[in-house]
Amino acid sequence: MGSAGSPAEQGLAAGGCFATLEIGHLEAVAAVERGSFANPWTAEELGWIVQGDSGLCVGLWVEEGLIGYGIGQTEEGLFHLASLAIDPAWRRQGWGGRLLLELLSQARRRGCKGCRLEVRTGNLAALNLYHHWAFREERRLVKFYTQPVEDGLVMYREL
Ligand SMILES: CC(C)(COP(=O)(O)OP(=O)(O)OC[C@H]1O[C@@H](n2cnc3c(N)ncnc32)[C@H](O)[C@@H]1OP(=O)(O)O)[C@@H](O)C(=O)NCCC(=O)NCCS
Repeated sequence: MGSAGSPAEQGLAAGGCFATLEIGHLEAVAAVERGSFANPWTAEELGWIVQGDSGLCVGLWVEEGLIGYGIGQTEEGLFHLASLAIDPAWRRQGWGGRLLLELLSQARRRGCKGCRLEVRTGNLAALNLYHHWAFREERRLVKFYTQPVEDGLVMYREL
């Protein structure tokens, strides 16, 4: 857990707990993933990132179990956030923001200077979340996504 006043501790104070994802968590992660994305990653695909040396993968638990996760990779001073989701029943209560801040805090502690991600142009919830936490749009990725085909936006913030 983080130091006093860190996002991790704030999460605890609000009834949640952050921990690094391990292989044994991936079925629960995949369940949140299935409830969150049209073409979800499988537990096996998630495992490639979780087991990789550069993986930065954090789960968010409450008493009822895992309700969210964020996974990404750190490389050459950059944190690439690959996926972030909160169980639908737990959205709009600040958990997404707390989880995002925890990921950014851990990336900073690993020496990262920035965080980059891609997001669908139509994903208003995610766009608002990232704008709220000081990400800015860098460029558009034409027809970057499939199922359905949609443009992406690259977003970045300094850490
Ligand atoms: C995006 C996501 C992680 C946000 O999680 P969350 O726990 O609801 O986020 P928060 O409660 O911290 O919300 C923070 C801000 O994000 C924005 N936001 C979140 N959900 C929103 C929605 N449905 N519509 C519009 N804005 C939304 C708001 O600005 C919100 O602040 P507010 O509640 O004070 O208005 C969640 O909607 C999710 O899991 N979506 C499916 C997976 C996904 O798209 N992940 C992002 C991939 S890039």
